[in-house]
Amino acid sequence: MTLGLARLRNLLGMLAVLALALYTHPATAQQRQPNSVNPTASAVSEDQLLQQLKTIRGLGTIPDTKSYTIEQPAGRDWREFHEVTLRWIGAVAILGILALIIVFYLTRGMVRLESGRSGQVIVRFNAAERFVHWMTASCFIVLALSGLNVTFGKKLLLPLMSPESFTAWSEAAKYAHNYLSFPFTLGVVLIFLMWIAGNLPNRVDVDWLKRGGGMIGHDHPPAERFNAGQKLIYWIVVLGGGALAVSGYVLIFPFYGTDIASMQSAEMVHAIIAMLFVAAMLGHIYIGTIGMEGAFEAMGSGTVDLNWAKEHHSLWLEQEEKRSREAAVPPHTTVAPGE
Ligand code: HEM
Repeated sequence: MTLGLARLRNLLGMLAVLALALYTHPATAQQRQPNSVNPTASAVSEDQLLQQLKTIRGLGTIPDTKSYTIEQPAGRDWREFHEVTLRWIGAVAILGILALIIVFYLTRGMVRLESGRSGQVIVRFNAAERFVHWMTASCFIVLALSGLNVTFGKKLLLPLMSPESFTAWSEAAKYAHNYLSFPFTLGVVLIFLMWIAGNLPNRVDVDWLKRGGGMIGHDHPPAERFNAGQKLIYWIVVLGGGALAVSGYVLIFPFYGTDIASMQSAEMVHAIIAMLFVAAMLGHIYIGTIGMEGAFEAMGSGTVDLNWAKEHHSLWLEQEEKRSREAAVPPHTTVAPGE
């Protein structure tokens, strides 16, 4: 009797093992519904899993539960933006403006100082203004190059260098991007405060714009201290730089009041504004250097030739001369030729 019971127990045990083996056997798996996914099958693709489950999560032990999510559809959309759409936006904006500049330079050439040099100069930007300008500009150049490395580096630089060098460069660039953001933001705030008075739009700008800013032909529409084109650059720097700073700090300090979706939005806003900002600054750099004779001196030495001021900022020159007469101070100084 006892022997019979023991045999029966053994038999039941074997049947249970057999049933389990049959259940987990691939033949059983093949009888699943046609569209369902066997997550343990070796041939299952990430795509299938994602389509079926929408979100793939694992288990973790660290307190940040966000890290348990391995894949989610929004992550893929973001990656598509970062790897494809953003690169197109950047390439079209930056190469597009470069092409326009080249065509413009080849057809119009440098805007010359038509009345020649007078030999007398007038102060246009004082030392403090130039310091703020160059501090912001140098931070901008490093921020732009290091930021563009995040977008294009893997595609354009990695094939040209060893993975180790690319890693070292990208790490340095990333540190530079994070830390130079602070003087850059300070520069944008100072630029805003320093030049706001001369950058509010007015009726002179309408006339200046109607006459194409004197860029086409040999016209010299009157302008105050800043013409409409310079005012546009000012507002691009203040508003674009401000938006870059806000979205950039959201990225530097992740998940302080933000979730994954808002981090993704911050990155998209940051990246798109950055591309347009770089394009606008290329235009600004062109006009300040090879695009217009005598323009660089304004930010270089801080002074401009009197004839330059007459041709490009006649109303400003009048105001300055009037102010100097009232204060009984000579408005301009004579410089030795070649000085
Ligand atoms: C206060 C200023 C700024 C801060 C705080 C900031 C911060 C950041 C951060 C944290 C990232 C993410 C980097 C990463 O994914 O590792 C980033 C990316 C980027 N930044 Fe900035 N940034 C600032 C200004 C600028 C400026 C002035 C430019 C260019 C004109 C710029 C261009 C870019 C670009 C192109 C990216 C890469 C976008 C991408 O491909 O995802 N940034 N920035």
